Amino acid sequence: MTTARSHRRYSTRRVLASAGATLALVIVMLVDHDAATVHAANMWGTLREPGQPAFIAGHRGDRTTAPENTIPAIQAALDSSMEFVELDLQKTLDGEAVVIHDETLERTTDGAGLVAEATWAELQTLDAGSWYAEAFAGTRIPHFDDFVDVFQISRKKALVELKGIWSVDELEPVIAEIYAAGVQDRLVFASFEVGTLHNLIEAAPNLPRVVLRRKLPLDPVRLAHYYGAAAVMTRLAEVRERPEVVEAMHAAGLGIMLYTLNSEERWSEALSYGVDGIITDEPSALDDWLAATAPGT
Ligand code: G3P
Ligand code: CA
Repeated sequence: MTTARSHRRYSTRRVLASAGATLALVIVMLVDHDAATVHAANMWGTLREPGQPAFIAGHRGDRTTAPENTIPAIQAALDSSMEFVELDLQKTLDGEAVVIHDETLERTTDGAGLVAEATWAELQTLDAGSWYAEAFAGTRIPHFDDFVDVFQISRKKALVELKGIWSVDELEPVIAEIYAAGVQDRLVFASFEVGTLHNLIEAAPNLPRVVLRRKLPLDPVRLAHYYGAAAVMTRLAEVRERPEVVEAMHAAGLGIMLYTLNSEERWSEALSYGVDGIITDEPSALDDWLAATAPGT
């Protein structure tokens, strides 16, 4: 993998022909059930039974030790005992993939305005660490390549959330970087966006996908199958309301995960339903709690 900042200028944006998109979806719906099952087994192991420990994903890295979605926070997550790191990707004005959660710059940098209206060169001048602690002054917004550099030399897995709509053309350099670094077996994409999930089917048919939903539809298995996804990720309240969805997903060979749970009470409730993964802002505390409550696992 290159570490050179060759950050690509995305050329012409291809518009996905609707006939092609429909055909891709039909193919996925017909054949991807098996692929999703294989992905689930590879990414998060055997699907859980109620009470079994779920995998832990550090939400935006490890936010307890460093500013979210920066390399220090990601590195802290990669160096810890948690299995996954979660991060958010957005596009700059000039089409570069950057690791940042908010659409706007104000909360986590000393800049202002929309990420989508700033160039990569402009974002590089911003301080993304001082807001968190003086010790992190000068920390930059990472490019996706920066993430891949540290991720490649780790043994952890990554849940990469794509914020906003990504076209096939916009996805392609990101996918190419993943394959060039050889990390395709340790990375799963997640998105709330219908358009992005559709485009991932074409741009990265062999990379696992997770469908994010604040509200679960009546049939989450059908939802996952529709996008050829390996799992659905939702809120605790959704599973509390309909705990039977966990068994339905598992019966179909699909995973179910919850975001973002930060207390023992919630972790305990989540595990009682048999969910496969928990996204948390307190990854070390969850790891310690799991070790204490489920010794030997
Ligand atoms: O990965 C799911 C979770 O991160 C979604 O919430 O707003 O923190 O990206 P958000
Ligand atoms: Ca996220």
